[in-house]
Amino acid sequence: MTSIPPGEDPKALVEGFNLASLPPAFYDDPFPVYAALQSLSPVHELPGGGLFLTRWDDLRTVYQQPALFSSDKKAAFRPVFGHTLLYQHHTTSLVFNDPPLHTRVRRLVAGALTSRAIAPMEKALHHLLDDLLDRAEAQGAIDAIDDFAAAIPIEIIASLMNIPPDEREPLRGWSLAILSALEPNPSEDMKQTAETAVGDFLAFLKTLIEDRRRHPLDPDTDLLTRLIQGTGIRDGLTEIELLQNCIFILNAGHETTTNLVGNGLHLLLTLPSARDLLLRRPALIKTAVEEVLRFASPNQLGNRVSTADTTLGGQRVFAGTQITLCIGAANRDPAQFENPNDFDITRSPNRHLAFASGPHMCAGQQLARLEGQLALARFFERFPQAELAGEPKRGNRARFRGFSSLPVKLSPD
Ligand code: HEM
Repeated sequence: MTSIPPGEDPKALVEGFNLASLPPAFYDDPFPVYAALQSLSPVHELPGGGLFLTRWDDLRTVYQQPALFSSDKKAAFRPVFGHTLLYQHHTTSLVFNDPPLHTRVRRLVAGALTSRAIAPMEKALHHLLDDLLDRAEAQGAIDAIDDFAAAIPIEIIASLMNIPPDEREPLRGWSLAILSALEPNPSEDMKQTAETAVGDFLAFLKTLIEDRRRHPLDPDTDLLTRLIQGTGIRDGLTEIELLQNCIFILNAGHETTTNLVGNGLHLLLTLPSARDLLLRRPALIKTAVEEVLRFASPNQLGNRVSTADTTLGGQRVFAGTQITLCIGAANRDPAQFENPNDFDITRSPNRHLAFASGPHMCAGQQLARLEGQLALARFFERFPQAELAGEPKRGNRARFRGFSSLPVKLSPD
């Protein structure tokens, strides 16, 4: 199976590619364009400036050299966001920083998200899934995004920070608004909505942090107490860094994990042979989740800026070049993956870049895997004959690949 459909001219796909103005069909299926870029222009100059990389090798090269390819977004974001809270948020988040800020925050966050630290969450996750699936069964048909996939990460991350259950409701809306502003060409409206969301989120966190300072919890299990204790000390965080990184962590695990579960459900609902195999051999859930991460990577695009003149894929790159790393394309690179457009839940090894690579590699990957594996396994255990009950709707975003709606009927009539 090739991802460039017969009759489609790869050269025309490459020439027509403009990240700043994408046609609606692209959101549905960007892979023919990615495959054309990969074979004809792997280090592609974008119409508005900057490079777009699609080869697995080139992405790895960039990820592994953080000094040469910086994550600092201050210069890139100032013209887009101006002097706003949104600018402060994105440019203070660890993911968009180099050392020393990145190192300081990463050290604090990483310890709270190791396999050992998250193991106690497994029981709570089982309860949450049983509860959601009981409710789903009573309904008979559900929107698998709103009623299932999106309901999982919000509860898990909020409980990592011990946010009281009755205060969690606005978190998803804030998170979606803030992340939307990272689309390649955000509208004024998107930016304004995101700005309001950052303001509301900050106000919410200030109250929560004040209260947690008065009543600290165990820093080994409460991420918020851990971050607070790392604030205002030597080599610690400033108050603004504390607040903005709390927002980032709450956001980082939301939509990405929702999309992992939503994309996994969609693939297994629409590819019966993969689902049947998983039902016969449930132990395949681990490789199945890795394959969902590769095949429909929740985070499709990353960014870096070059700090010195260099070369990439044999092409000269000048200092100060904005570089877009296309994870979605690299994860279908035939030079790394055999039959890359086949969804194969037994694939091993599977060296996908869905969580990136190098010092910024996703700090929450073990948690995301745990959520993805348990959610998909429990769903199909309970509803092995579930089927799509209507047209799924995509989120229509280039950076985050997922569905905004996925109607599902849980058993046949
Ligand atoms: C399927 C779900 C997820 C995917 C696909 C994903 C993907 C990514 C990617 C690609 C990066 C690197 C960005 C870059 O350097 O350009 C990243 C960073 C990060 N992710 Fe995730 N993520 C997921 C879930 C989570 C969860 C559940 C959490 C935590 C609760 C989390 C926390 C973070 C943090 C803190 C970083 C920043 C790491 C750093 O800059 O050192 N992520 N993630």
